[in-house]
Amino acid sequence: MIFCNPFSTFRAFIPPSNFGAPLLKKIKNFVVSGVECLPIIEGGKGVGITTGVTAGHFAKAGAVGTFSGVNADSIDENGKYVPLIYKTHTRRERHEELVTDSIRGGISQAKIAHDISGGAGRIHMNVLWEMGGAERILHGILDGTKGLIHGITCGAGMPYRLAEIAEKYKVYYYPIVSSMRAFRALWKRSYHKAVTLLGGVVYECPWRAGGHNGLSNAEDPNAYEDPYPRVAELRTFMNSVGLSEVPIIMAGGVWNLEEFEHWLDNPEIGPIVFQFGTRPIVTQEYPVTDSWKKKLMTLKEGDVYLNRFSPTGFYSSAVENDFIRELKGREIRQVEYRTKPIDTFTAEIPFGQRGRVVYIKPEDKVKVDEWIRAGHTEGMKTPDETLMFVDKSKANQIVTDQINCMGCLSQCRFSNWSDKEEMNHTTDRKADPRSFCIQKTLQDIRLGGDVENQLMFSGHSAYRFATDPFYANGFVPTIKQLVERIMSGK
Ligand SMILES: Cc1cc2nc3c(=O)[nH]c(=O)nc-3n(C[C@H](O)[C@H](O)[C@H](O)COP(=O)(O)O)c2cc1C
Ligand code: SF4
Repeated sequence: MIFCNPFSTFRAFIPPSNFGAPLLKKIKNFVVSGVECLPIIEGGKGVGITTGVTAGHFAKAGAVGTFSGVNADSIDENGKYVPLIYKTHTRRERHEELVTDSIRGGISQAKIAHDISGGAGRIHMNVLWEMGGAERILHGILDGTKGLIHGITCGAGMPYRLAEIAEKYKVYYYPIVSSMRAFRALWKRSYHKAVTLLGGVVYECPWRAGGHNGLSNAEDPNAYEDPYPRVAELRTFMNSVGLSEVPIIMAGGVWNLEEFEHWLDNPEIGPIVFQFGTRPIVTQEYPVTDSWKKKLMTLKEGDVYLNRFSPTGFYSSAVENDFIRELKGREIRQVEYRTKPIDTFTAEIPFGQRGRVVYIKPEDKVKVDEWIRAGHTEGMKTPDETLMFVDKSKANQIVTDQINCMGCLSQCRFSNWSDKEEMNHTTDRKADPRSFCIQKTLQDIRLGGDVENQLMFSGHSAYRFATDPFYANGFVPTIKQLVERIMSGK
């Protein structure tokens, strides 16, 4: 076992506030992916938010760094970013280019992380099971990075085959679940066959975590459930199948460890490690714009909430901004329609370029007339037999984005793309104009796009930046300083 506890370096560190805060007595190091580390994991964030640089710095500080293997940026031998400029014309061909580039990108990020870490801590890679070509990308990156990546974290969907892939490459695997039931299903179906490489189980609170959220259909997005009993239930199940030594990684809404003191050294919870997603974004090494960091530091409680606009079909958590408000507007500006006059669908409206008539309810006609007067002149059909109204430029943008699809997901509600050859690369459902191209907006915000007009994923605790004295006067720590701060319990 290699020990990489850098506690000794903490003595030299003088935090900008709260001098001399004692380390929480009960915070223990844990063996993560075969090595003893601080109980802190960087939550992986796509697209390109957690990189080889961020992961390398977390690892160097003695914790676990996680770069995102979701369409990772390719960096050449000279450290230069090589943007993907598509040369092909169909979305199927672009998907192939994206898969090839993602493999190249993931390999380059793993090398960077390894170099920066200097062999300290651990390097994990995060992927979404529902990303397009997920398994091919995993195989490709792991093939090209032997010994550089120690663990894979994988969420969004039910990654049954993750265990098999981990075994092939002898890396640890970390499924991300939001309930005991989800883990039990994965365990029964496949994970019981690959016990030794199960490095931990990430419990991601579906009401609080940033990014996509694993709320089941039975769970109410407005009825928050405390993670403690849910994690205790997961631990009871894990103990019952011989996983009492396997850590649970608590993610979602973890701001500091002081507030989780009752979880530590607690047999109901067992070995526990903490994952931080939103808090690390405000560090010097994070490759997001200053305006993004500033926005996070000025949020108020309630500015981040769950929405259902993602083309993956999952709930997700994002900052309210013009991007989200515009999507909310689309949701409101829709009415049911029929292609023939039946029942109460008696009011005629012309639809589309050829002005073909469809039928809506007379009471809805009043609303539609008002929307059209306000400039939302274009009706677009949704898969739910509704017409949704937007202005001309938005309608053009929606269609253009659908045409430019590069197949980044396994299935996309917005463009109806599917990565399944046997499905002829379509979901067989109508493309849904109430959603958006997540690949485009996540790339745009990271590459400097306006934080008001792009999707800004965030955890629900982001409002705490504004009141946490650590960030007083706009202080942006380094990753090392953040890790030390977290280890102090604050
Ligand atoms: C901007 C952003 C992007 C994220 N992207 C991903 C992702 O690509 N894959 C993933 O598994 N989790 C993703 N997450 C979730 C984080 O890894 C982490 O589990 C979560 O943010 C923890 O909650 P917290 O934000 O309250 O700390 C993302 C979170 C944020 C804030
Ligand atoms: S439309 Fe955008 S989000 Fe959907 S699969 Fe294509 S690239 Fe991905």
